[in-house]
Amino acid sequence: MTDFAERYGPWAVVTGAAQGVGLAYAEELVERGLGVLLVDRDPKVEGVASDLPGEARGLVADLADPGWLERVEGAAADLEVGLAVANAGVGYVGRFLEMPAASRETILRVNCDATVRMAEWALPPMVERGRGAFVVTSSGSALVGTAGVALYSATKAFVLNLAEAIGWELRGTGVVTQAVVAPSMSTPAFDQSGVDRERMLTPAADPRDVVRRALDALGEAPCWYGDAGLEMLAGLDRRQAVDVISAATTRMYPGVFEPGGDA
Ligand SMILES: NC(=O)c1ccc[n+]([C@@H]2O[C@H](COP(=O)([O-])OP(=O)(O)OC[C@H]3O[C@@H](n4cnc5c(N)ncnc54)[C@H](OP(=O)(O)O)[C@@H]3O)[C@@H](O)[C@H]2O)c1
Repeated sequence: MTDFAERYGPWAVVTGAAQGVGLAYAEELVERGLGVLLVDRDPKVEGVASDLPGEARGLVADLADPGWLERVEGAAADLEVGLAVANAGVGYVGRFLEMPAASRETILRVNCDATVRMAEWALPPMVERGRGAFVVTSSGSALVGTAGVALYSATKAFVLNLAEAIGWELRGTGVVTQAVVAPSMSTPAFDQSGVDRERMLTPAADPRDVVRRALDALGEAPCWYGDAGLEMLAGLDRRQAVDVISAATTRMYPGVFEPGGDA
């Protein structure tokens, strides 16, 4: 067993794991010798799990539905979970006042409520064993309010603060937290978001690279920056930073925010 698997294994649970960042976690964790329970609302998660070259199970569960956690509890009943990755997340690109109510509900349930519930479920046994980790996939948009993705940005700040605060409270227990302040990454969701890649300031990162580096840094600090630009943004005056990230984000979506508009 690798040092990583001894510290954070033998099993991990990853939500939103059928593709994108969550799949990158599942692949990397299997590579590091952990068994992985992949949770996703997309039924393809079962085939994805059985194709992984290691111990893996797929579970179909929609984190926006009440009862999803009971399904995870059932599927993980015989597993010792040393690493929980609250990765599933959804967003809405557009002006806050134009966001449909259904999007608001789903974003709050999946990004916020499901992350809280996952922490409440996964952390106590880890604390009892004196080892483990709780990871959340946050975003650069968590650092300051980001126009164009206002509610998404607020929920990513929510999970960032949650992981940081829990990390402080768990100091000395052997259990760590990590909020991954992720840059834009090439994933199916990102590709389908209407983004114009030509208008991005920096190219989208490979999620496998981001995940590998984040896992290498697990245990160092509860907040992990995916690139130097985000770390620099975090150091700016907030008012300046809101302008920088909001201009960059709305620029990426010319179909929604007309160039030269007031967004
Ligand atoms: N990509 C980026 O640029 C970027 C940047 C910063 C942070 N992030 C964060 O990274 C995480 C993963 O994003 P991604 O880009 O990898 O997205 P993705 O390509 O859509 O993959 C996410 C997976 O989660 C699933 N999912 C969505 N809602 C779910 C729910 N209610 N219950 C269960 N599974 C659900 C999706 O299923 P469906 O296909 O059915 O929707 C999909 O399989 C999110 O938290 C996102 O906010 C992404």
